[in-house]
Amino acid sequence: MKGKFITLEGGEGCGKSTQARLLSAYLQNKGIEVITTKEPGGTPEGKILRELLVTGDKDKFDAIAECLLYYADRRCHLTKLVWPAMDEGKWVISDRYADSTEAYQYYGYNKRVEHQILENMYQIVAGDFKPDLTLILDIDPEVGMRRSFAKAEAMEVKELRFESRQLEFHKNLRQGFLEIAKREPERCIVLNADTTVEDLHHEIVRVVNEKLGIE
Ligand code: TMP
Repeated sequence: MKGKFITLEGGEGCGKSTQARLLSAYLQNKGIEVITTKEPGGTPEGKILRELLVTGDKDKFDAIAECLLYYADRRCHLTKLVWPAMDEGKWVISDRYADSTEAYQYYGYNKRVEHQILENMYQIVAGDFKPDLTLILDIDPEVGMRRSFAKAEAMEVKELRFESRQLEFHKNLRQGFLEIAKREPERCIVLNADTTVEDLHHEIVRVVNEKLGIE
C-alpha cells in the first residue's frame, strides 16, 4: 500500500480527536492527501455498531461479544475506507484502532478475555497489516475523565458507556497502553497529554517528522 496509517490512542479525555484534526491540517499543508477517521464508527455500517457499543448499560455485552463487535466495525473500516484510501496513496489518521481493544477489553476488563483470542481476531480481520505509527496520548485517568464529562455535558453527548466504569478500569487501561508501547516501541510512541493543545501538537509533529520522514 502506498499511503501511511497513523493511529491515535489513549484513555478518555486525552484529546485524540483534536490532535487528529491538527495533524491532518499539518500534513495537508505539506501536500499530503489525508483522511481523518475513527473507530468505532468510521463507516456508515460502523456508525450503527458504534451506537450499540458506546451507549446503554455498561454490562450489556460480555467481553468476547464486545470484542467481536469492535472487530466487525474494524473490518468494515479497513476494507471500505482505510485500505482503499491507502492504495490511492492517501495517508489515513485514525482516532483509535486495535490497541484500544487490547487496552479496554483486555487490560481494562482485567484480562477477562484470553490474549490469544484477541490475537486471533486481529489476524482474521487485518492479517499482518499494522499501523505505520501509533501515538499514545497518555493522561492520568482522573484528569481525562474530568475533561470527558465536561465535554459531554457541554455538547450534550450521551456516549458515556465506558466513562461510567470505575476509575480502576481506566487506570488498568492506561497501564495497558503503556504495556503495548513497551512491547512495540518502534511503532508506539507515548506522549504526555496533560499539557496544552499546542504543545501536544508540536510534539506530535516532531515525532511524525522523525518517524515518517517528512521534510
Ligand atoms: P471515542 O469516544 O474515543 O470515539 O471511543 C468510543 C469508546 O469506545 C471509548 O470509550 C473507547 C471504546 N473503545 C473500546 O472499548 N474498544 C475499542 O476497540 C475501541 C476502538 C473503542
